[in-house]
Amino acid sequence: MYPLRRNRRLRTNNAIRSMVQETIISPNDFIVPLFIVEGTGIKEEIASMPDYYRYSLDLLKEEVKTLWSMGLKSVLLFVKVPDNLKDNKGTEAINANGLMQRAIKTVKDVAPDMYVMTDVALDPFSSYGHDGIVENGEILNDETAEVLAQMSISHAQAGADMVAPSDMMDGRILYIREALEEEGFKNTGIMSYSAKYASAFYGPFRDALDSAPGFGDKKTYQMDPANRSEAIRETLMDIDEGADIVMVKPGLCYLDIVRDLKNEVEVPISVYQVSGEYAMLKAAAEKGWLNHDAVMMEQVTAIKRAGADLIASYFAKDVVKLLG
Ligand code: PBG
Repeated sequence: MYPLRRNRRLRTNNAIRSMVQETIISPNDFIVPLFIVEGTGIKEEIASMPDYYRYSLDLLKEEVKTLWSMGLKSVLLFVKVPDNLKDNKGTEAINANGLMQRAIKTVKDVAPDMYVMTDVALDPFSSYGHDGIVENGEILNDETAEVLAQMSISHAQAGADMVAPSDMMDGRILYIREALEEEGFKNTGIMSYSAKYASAFYGPFRDALDSAPGFGDKKTYQMDPANRSEAIRETLMDIDEGADIVMVKPGLCYLDIVRDLKNEVEVPISVYQVSGEYAMLKAAAEKGWLNHDAVMMEQVTAIKRAGADLIASYFAKDVVKLLG
């Protein structure tokens, strides 16, 4: 006799398929990255990221209202800094009236309940395009962590709910946590880019912010894509130092890491589906080689299935539109 179990029974029609579906995507899953520029009336498309834009603060307002009305509850802010404001120490990063600080206030003005996260790293502010202070071709660790702590305080003062250090300096979560506590920002959270790889998938993002490293690469601080245990070690350390949410970045090539962490840690895990992942699908879809929406849904579902509690993604709006 044929086996009593037939797995296809639970795939017979839509109703039963949706009843047994294990991974469900909702607007609550997403963090929306936003790129911001100086000026007014600017909404410029990023060449290597079709249908993704840099906004000036006035148009940022409209975009944030739209996101909020769609049920998207969280944004992650990045600023593009003019060359004349860049230096080795990222001085502009702690300007209380800097673009980031004004952007935070702008978002809170139009959508007070929007959860505002901010990128904390020196690269958009650095004349070298590196995430930290440079000395004799080296990226200084502890000196950079000090600046990141000041930057975090400045973001908290402007009204950020959570800072997101993306720099991969050692010990920076502790520096930032202690600085926030000292300044009374007990409820300002930290989402640590804890397992961030030295990936070639960040290319389009560096176009978006004009932040490509001026010399060398980021391999002395970001992780080697060949490594797995190291991701656990990095992440456990960041949790010990006070990270509220940890992150794996990029997404799709690193889902084994996501699952390892899911089995190991008890804080929420976010995954950054990065610019290169976005660009690949947009390009293939433009050529008619892949079905954009179907592949996009499959990808975000796979990221969540692997163990992500949150997904930072340029597809957030497209996904939520599709959910209807
Ligand atoms: C820099 C930073 C990068 C990204 C987020 N923060 C690029 C880098 O490390 O060079 C990449 C995001 C993306 O590619 O979408 N601190």
